Formats: sequence, structure tokens, C-alpha cells
Amino acid sequence: MKKIRFYVCRECGNIITATSEAAVTCCGKTLTPEVPQPAPEGERLQLEEIDGEWYVTADHPMTKEHYISVAAYISDSTVMLFKQYPEWNMQFRMPLCRAGRLVWYCTKCGLLYQDIRRK
Ligand SMILES: [Fe+2]
Repeated sequence: MKKIRFYVCRECGNIITATSEAAVTCCGKTLTPEVPQPAPEGERLQLEEIDGEWYVTADHPMTKEHYISVAAYISDSTVMLFKQYPEWNMQFRMPLCRAGRLVWYCTKCGLLYQDIRRK
């Protein structure tokens, strides 16, 4: 699933995923897949191991104009989506995984990612 594509509708905020090439439309517009960028140092998510789970947080604005709308965990065989909402803290819990990639979509900064590995 490492090649999963994310399509984001700028009109309604809809987030659509596809495992390979797809013709995706929403609100009458054709969407092109977002190109994930490696998260710069200050934008990376924080992971803490709590009660046998990953607890993931971010120091990122969560205003109606600028927020993380979704985060995802991706491995070779799995995708997990964690919907996020403005005016709430960006946070979610996910199963402890050995390794994988976190991808998230910010309404201003676009699609970012970081690779994670359990120590
Ligand atoms: Fe942002």
C-alpha cells in the first residue's frame, strides 16, 4: 500500500484514496493525486508509546483555515485513516507497528509524510 494515492477535493474537503491510477472526480472537478513531501523537522508528528499503542500528536495549527484534516498509517499491506477536525487537537491512537509511514494532509501545506520505526 506504500504507493497509495490521496486525492483531496478543495471544494468539500473529501479525501479519496486509490491503490493505483484512477480517474477521480468530486464536486464536478477532476482531482489529481497529491504528491507527498517529506515533513520538515518542525512539522513532524510526535509519537509516544502509551498502554501498548502509539499515541500520535502534532504541534500544528488546527483552525478552520489551517488544519490537518486526515492522517494515515501506511505499511506494505495496510492503510489506516484517522480523520481530524478543526478546533480539536490533532491526536489519535493506533496499534503499535514495527515500521511504516505516517502521511497527513494539511489544508494549507498539502500532503506530508514521515517514516516511523519502533525502537
Ligand atoms: Fe500546515
